[in-house]
Amino acid sequence: MTPELTAYLDRLSAEGRSFDATRPDRTDRRRNLEPESARVLHALVSGARPSAVLELGTSNGYSTIWLADALTDSTPFTTVDNDPDRAGEATGNIAAAGFGDAVTQVTGDGLQVLQDAADGAFPFIFLDAERTLYVDWWPHLQRVLADGGLLVVDNVLSHADQVTAFRALVDAADGYRSLVLPVGAGLLVIAKQG
Ligand SMILES: C[S@@+](CC[C@H](N)C(=O)[O-])C[C@H]1O[C@@H](n2cnc3c(N)ncnc32)[C@H](O)[C@@H]1O
Repeated sequence: MTPELTAYLDRLSAEGRSFDATRPDRTDRRRNLEPESARVLHALVSGARPSAVLELGTSNGYSTIWLADALTDSTPFTTVDNDPDRAGEATGNIAAAGFGDAVTQVTGDGLQVLQDAADGAFPFIFLDAERTLYVDWWPHLQRVLADGGLLVVDNVLSHADQVTAFRALVDAADGYRSLVLPVGAGLLVIAKQG
């Protein structure tokens, strides 16, 4: 990562924290990934070199930019958010970071994108949307995640009560291994056996 991009992401993260502090309604906030979690995500993607990536929950593009930097220019990368205002902010931020041509933004429902995706379409999925939806999304996530792929879920420690049922489904599913990385808000890394 270039020093310029690091500085840009640091600024975006600081602005996000200041912005969120002024918004009492959680859904009005940007809720960006913690920088230390972003670094873990970047390392995982850089190492795994997935042939395609899906992000569910773009917000204003902070985590999207981290992911895009970890990919080669030709890796298909789709990010989804159902909030048009946030998606509009993300478009500007992703372009300003130099990844406008590398990222396909979808403004719509994550569930719909999962339902429309082919079996095994994504070897890497980052899930950072509305936690209460994950139980319903799990069957689709399982189908869309490629064999040998990784699904990373944020906020499993900060909002543990909201992902209890989801984590129980993951633990009960055959062919998956998972662990929680205690960084930031807690990253659940789920590996689908190949
Ligand atoms: C925690 S924020 C994502 C933060 C982002 N990953 C980052 O680090 O900058 C969650 C986002 O999920 C989006 N979201 C909520 N429900 C969704 C759904 N059903 N489909 C797609 N996006 C959704 C929200 O609009 C919000 O922008």
